[in-house]
Amino acid sequence: MLIKRPDDIRPSEITPRSVYEDRRQLLFGAAGALALAGTGALPGEAHAQAREKIAGLRPAPVAYTLKDPLNTYEQITSYTNFYEFGTDKSDPLRNSKNFRTRPWTVAVEGEVHKPRTFGIDDLLKLAPIEERVYRLRCVEAWSMIVPWAGYSLSELIRQVEPTANAKYVEFHTLHDPKQMPGQKDPVLQWPYVEGLRIDEAMHPLTLLGLGLYGELLPNPNGAPVRLVVPWKYGFKSGKSIVRIRFVEKMPTTAWMRSAPSEYGFYSNVNPKVDHPRWSQARERRIGEFLKRETLMFNGYAEQVASLYTGMDLRKQF
Ligand code: MTE
Repeated sequence: MLIKRPDDIRPSEITPRSVYEDRRQLLFGAAGALALAGTGALPGEAHAQAREKIAGLRPAPVAYTLKDPLNTYEQITSYTNFYEFGTDKSDPLRNSKNFRTRPWTVAVEGEVHKPRTFGIDDLLKLAPIEERVYRLRCVEAWSMIVPWAGYSLSELIRQVEPTANAKYVEFHTLHDPKQMPGQKDPVLQWPYVEGLRIDEAMHPLTLLGLGLYGELLPNPNGAPVRLVVPWKYGFKSGKSIVRIRFVEKMPTTAWMRSAPSEYGFYSNVNPKVDHPRWSQARERRIGEFLKRETLMFNGYAEQVASLYTGMDLRKQF
């Protein structure tokens, strides 16, 4: 029998207490409905998508993973923003059930010496997949602790060899209104485009996300491949990516286009810079009652603050 040392056990292998509590509450009928109301899921609403484990998932080096208690799978999949499937937090789970994530390709192009289109199976084999527990801070002042699976985006970037002109990287989400009903609504200009500076994209914390809780990504969370940039507001982490483009000029992202006075290019989590319509000083961790203080760079300052030396983070928000 294989006995795992504590360091070999992935956080998602240990069932968080809140999962037990949710299950216990479900046994008590009305109390269960109340418990789920906080997550946006309907009682009895099943995850229709087939769930598939990621083989050979490794624990991440300690510098890239937190020890905080995890949000539950149910919370993470049922309370989320994915406007392509509707603007309500519970819409993506309901409306993405039949979303097709295979076949799937990601075209990597622009200012690179070796442009290449990767199939999703190439991406699943490109580098060892690690479980990394990250904080997620949404611009709407809620947060979660999520056990992602993936590897540093830099592993992919190295394969295509960016040219000296590659100063920024754009990430494009799939545009397919037949499958993504929210794209019939002009709430944003589709496709969803996000961007990073090249050094941000190369930072080891920037994750090419392929899974969650030890399994391939669930549809509401951006299957089959997404970005996860933990020191920035959640909207920087584009979902269901089909194109990664290296460019010389700073891209105009979907949110900058839609509300330029509210959303800047950098979008670093910064409790001192309020959103024009609300404070960013505090946040509600999903599943908790009392609010917490928001941390500079979402708690990742030690690792990323040097990327912004000399910048006025109030102006370049
Ligand atoms: N990506 C796309 N394509 N469309 C979206 O609407 N929403 C963003 C981000 N990525 C969004 C997106 C926002 S606002 C947040 S907070 C995160 O996804 C939430 O997703 P998660 O809970 O799965 O991280």
